[in-house]
Amino acid sequence: MRFLNLGLVFGFAAIASAAAIPHTHAVHEKRDTAVAKKWEKRGRLSANARLPMRIGLKQRNLHLGHDLLMDISDPSSPNYSKHWTSEEVIEMFAPEQKTVDAVRAWLIDSGIAPQRLTHSDNKGWLAFDATTEEAETLLLTEYHLYEHVDGQTTAACESYHVPKYIQEHLDYITPGIKLSAPSKRSVKARSASNRIHSSIPFQRATDISTNDDLSQCYNALTPACLRALYGFPETPEYPGGQARTDNSLGIFEEGDFYDQADLDTFFANFTPYIPQGTHPVPAFIDGAQAPVPQYDAGPESDLDLQLSYPIIYPQNVTLFQTDDLYSAYTSRGFLNTFLDAIDGSYCTYSAFGETGNDPIDPVYPDTVWSGGYKGQLMCGVYEPTNVISVSYGGSEADWPTYYQQRQCNEYMKLGLQGTSIFFASGDAGVAGRYGDGNVDGCLGTYGQIFSPGFPTSCPYVTSVGATQINPNSTVYEPESVADYPDWGYSSGGGFSNIYPVPSYQHSAVYDYLQRHDPGYKYYRGNVSLATTDGLYNRSGRGYPDVSANGWNLAVVIGGETGVEGGTSAATPIWASLINRINEQRLNIGKKTLGFLNPALYANPHVLNDITTGSNPGCATKGFPAATGWDPATGLGTPNYPKMLDYFLSLP
Ligand SMILES: *[C@@H]1O[C@H](CO)[C@@H](O)[C@H](O)[C@H]1NC(C)=O
Ligand SMILES: *[C@@H]1O[C@H](CO)[C@@H](O)[C@H](O)[C@H]1NC(C)=O
Ligand SMILES: *[C@@H]1O[C@H](CO)[C@@H](O)[C@H](O)[C@H]1NC(C)=O
Ligand SMILES: *[C@@H]1O[C@H](CO)[C@@H](O)[C@H](O)[C@H]1NC(C)=O
Ligand SMILES: *[C@@H]1O[C@H](CO)[C@@H](O)[C@H](O)[C@H]1NC(C)=O
Repeated sequence: MRFLNLGLVFGFAAIASAAAIPHTHAVHEKRDTAVAKKWEKRGRLSANARLPMRIGLKQRNLHLGHDLLMDISDPSSPNYSKHWTSEEVIEMFAPEQKTVDAVRAWLIDSGIAPQRLTHSDNKGWLAFDATTEEAETLLLTEYHLYEHVDGQTTAACESYHVPKYIQEHLDYITPGIKLSAPSKRSVKARSASNRIHSSIPFQRATDISTNDDLSQCYNALTPACLRALYGFPETPEYPGGQARTDNSLGIFEEGDFYDQADLDTFFANFTPYIPQGTHPVPAFIDGAQAPVPQYDAGPESDLDLQLSYPIIYPQNVTLFQTDDLYSAYTSRGFLNTFLDAIDGSYCTYSAFGETGNDPIDPVYPDTVWSGGYKGQLMCGVYEPTNVISVSYGGSEADWPTYYQQRQCNEYMKLGLQGTSIFFASGDAGVAGRYGDGNVDGCLGTYGQIFSPGFPTSCPYVTSVGATQINPNSTVYEPESVADYPDWGYSSGGGFSNIYPVPSYQHSAVYDYLQRHDPGYKYYRGNVSLATTDGLYNRSGRGYPDVSANGWNLAVVIGGETGVEGGTSAATPIWASLINRINEQRLNIGKKTLGFLNPALYANPHVLNDITTGSNPGCATKGFPAATGWDPATGLGTPNYPKMLDYFLSLP
């Protein structure tokens, strides 16, 4: 959906107005003019300008996705762990053949020669190039150039018509009524980076114990502390010490890059059994590069790798590093280019009124910035790993809803194929990140409303919150919610404004709200956030699902040894432990675990329930942790021996 050159045709005068609409036709889409205040309608497009037409076909079975995923992820289902192939997934959600045939026939009857029509790889839409005149005749409409206040232009119409008999087969047509979000985003509206933990500074510390001393784990959580805390052995139980070649751990990074010297210092000091020079397998996307010199070392990348290698070594990490430097630093879009790279069909996937990447995503080849990536958008170039850890995120309120829903649907499809995806739950408690939202990261007229996170609120990912060892306590005592007011940091949690409560957590959420209701006013359903006096959405999906330590973890960043924290740390801990369990399942001929949540909610006893602390934000104490699931620590932290037993016992 690129109309970079349309500016050239601006100024052509309208020639004729649309003819009367025959009674065989009906309006298929019409724009609500109230939603497009920032767009100015300019001249009519010239009759011979070329438009890249995309006819979105009605998808089959999209509404069944949830049940299909539960069928293979719910441990009580006879189909547990019977994962799908990517072809089966595409087939399940592809439009029916009669839909494709009907739309093709309509286009051919209307004068579009069959050889001009292409059918996308994922079968979701038909494409052809048309002159404006052809498109206007086909759709009984007029195309105009629209200009955004920020200067971006796009081609669109106010409404279009199609024969009534074809409507049941059509989702939507582009260019159509949609005025795409402008690509320039204001930094005020959202922090420039999608990194979760940017508010928690790295703190230097020289006195960190490098042996197995467990007396200082509150001050600096070393790999030895982490092993004692969650009960996993130093070296994974790999037969013959050999890791499988089909179980590398996937880690996503964007705009933040690891430094090899930092990894080597960390290994030398804390995990000497990991050889110097150990580094991730690059799966670089759209011009991404790593590692970087030490002065540029990224606190997120270094942290993620220094937490995961000690858990999974000798297993590999696959580093999904996205976007050329220009896009990475300006944080255009989020995750779509990554999803394109691990699922080629996502590049052209239509769902929720959007096909392929949105204009807020980076556009490749980059024709704007001289240092940008000049190659084609990378589609389906890497296999998804069995487990993927993502310590990045933002707020639901900052991204178009359809953008989030289309991604969430993709996580559902990856789950069907047996991939487990972990997202950090955010570092600002019930608030969004400082600077997001209306007031201090909160929503509503007075900034009193909690701001749920994205994409961690998607019901098809495992959302990971953060815990901490209590001051002066040991790894053998219960942890509490990570909450460090000096940094404005507490474990992200709350209830989605987009997704309803999924079936697998229904009773957990219900129990929490019945037994531990914090007493805040709430809202449900379709109310206006401008006028409600509620603070959170009682009908929304609750998050996080689980948690792990996210405070004072020992790291080496930029040549300095110190400590760092955040749900960004908790996330790779979970991902690494599940990767280890997958390794053992694969070794005994079982499948990977895939989407974990239904099994975890049905078996909370394999976790350490966290019952103290809360996650403040928006001038409240946030949600208190409690017995059972809570929207601060989820079901709790990993109890590795119990998790291993349980997950190995499943088919
Ligand atoms: C299990 O999968 C089979 C097809 O693979 C399907 O027919 C059956 O309905 C599924 N079982 C359940 C309980 O959904
Ligand atoms: C790890 O990655 C390296 C480089 O791609 C490869 O040579 C090695 O076989 C991999 N090891 C495992 C266990 O997959
Ligand atoms: C932790 O122990 C130190 C030294 O014994 C003491 O000064 C400090 O107050 C303790 N902190 C807490 C929160 O108990
Ligand atoms: C509350 O959540 C539901 C999803 O369960 C959603 O449909 C509704 O729009 C949300 N309400 C608001 C005001 O965002
Ligand atoms: C939600 O409320 C808005 C504004 O009142 C309205 O335009 C919209 O149609 C409503 N949506 C639903 C699904 O009820």
